[in-house]
Order: sequence, then C-alpha cells, then structure tokens
Amino acid sequence: MVLVSGSGTNLQALIDATADPAYGAVIVAVGADRDGIAGLERAERAGLPSFVHRVKDFPDRADWDRALTGAVQGYEPDLVVTAGFMKILGPEFIAAFAGRIVNTHPALLPAFPGAHGVTDALAYGVKVTGCTVHLVDAGVDTGPIIAQGVVEVTDADHADGGDALHERIKTVERQLLVDVVGRLAREGHRIEDRKVRIPA
Ligand code: GRF
Repeated sequence: MVLVSGSGTNLQALIDATADPAYGAVIVAVGADRDGIAGLERAERAGLPSFVHRVKDFPDRADWDRALTGAVQGYEPDLVVTAGFMKILGPEFIAAFAGRIVNTHPALLPAFPGAHGVTDALAYGVKVTGCTVHLVDAGVDTGPIIAQGVVEVTDADHADGGDALHERIKTVERQLLVDVVGRLAREGHRIEDRKVRIPA
C-alpha cells in the first residue's frame, strides 16, 4: 500500500520495481489526501486501485484518520509506504499499522524533520544532506531509521532555493526506498531498541 500527495516519482520507482516478481512485493493500492495529482495518474496507468480521502471532506481530523485507516485496512497490506504523503498520520492509523509504516524523508534525520527538510538543511548551511527511510511512530519523522543516503550540497544549490538539491536527493531516495521495501518484503524485520533489524 502506498500513500502519496504529489508527483509520485517514489511511487513510480516502486511500481517499476514490482514488475519483477523477484522483487518480492506488490502494490495492493494507492491512497491520496488530494485529487488531481500526478501520483494518482501513475497508479491508474499501472492499473492499481486508488482512493482519495481529503481532510476537508471530514468533520474533523479524527474522522479522517478513521476513514483512512479503514480504507487501507480493506486492502490488508503487510506494509504501508508513505512516499511524499504530506499529512501527519493520526493515532488510529499508527496503532493499526504499528511498526509497518515506512516513510521517506528528504533529509538526514534526526536533523531537519518536518515538511521543509530540504530548504531547512540548505538554510542551516550544511555541506551534506540526504534522505532517510524510516518507520513511522507517533512523532513527526522520529521513528526508527532503516536506511539513509547522503547527498553533497554545492554552493550553486543556494541559487535556486533548493530545487536542484531536492532533485538530487530524490534520485538517491527512490533507489533507497526501492531497496528497503524489497528487503522488508522479502526478509521481514524486527525492531530492537530503535534499531531496525532485517534478517539477511
Ligand atoms: C520526496 O522527496 C519526499 O521525501 C518528500 O516529498 C518528495 C515526494 O516526491 N516528502 P514524489 O511525490 O515521490 O515525487
């Protein structure tokens, strides 16, 4: 199960990877918190079922959380991947899929959590940044780290507000996410003292 909010290039990388049966994972459905996004078009092109639950269509956040949880449970996924999903998941969702929600973040956590990881790192003046694939817990980008990839920051990155840097991060991020999801699907995982252990 993959949740998206935007262009869905991470979703596309997963769709492409699942074309090979040896990859070990299939995508059962794609969920979104908004419509009209490229991520949903990618799902449709791949023939995947999809649904949209917009927060504003529900009386409050708890109702949205309950509806999203129910919709995802209906597909009985082993893993939920939030790939550029720009909403904070609610407590019901996190309880339902505890330890099985995988998020990708465009910075080296625990530095620069939140929605502006790329530009916050750039503004801070770091020389390296990157991406983090981690399990989701109740905090914002605070769950156990599974894997990280490093990207160097150049002087030129300050000129365009971080767009080129984000593109370089996303190139690394897509590969890292594909690797991690495949390993989790094929080998399983357990969590020991915040360390994510993948057997093989
Ligand atoms: C990724 O860099 C993700 O980490 C961030 O937004 C980007 C989503 O890209 N939160 P895409 O929608 O997968 O192309």
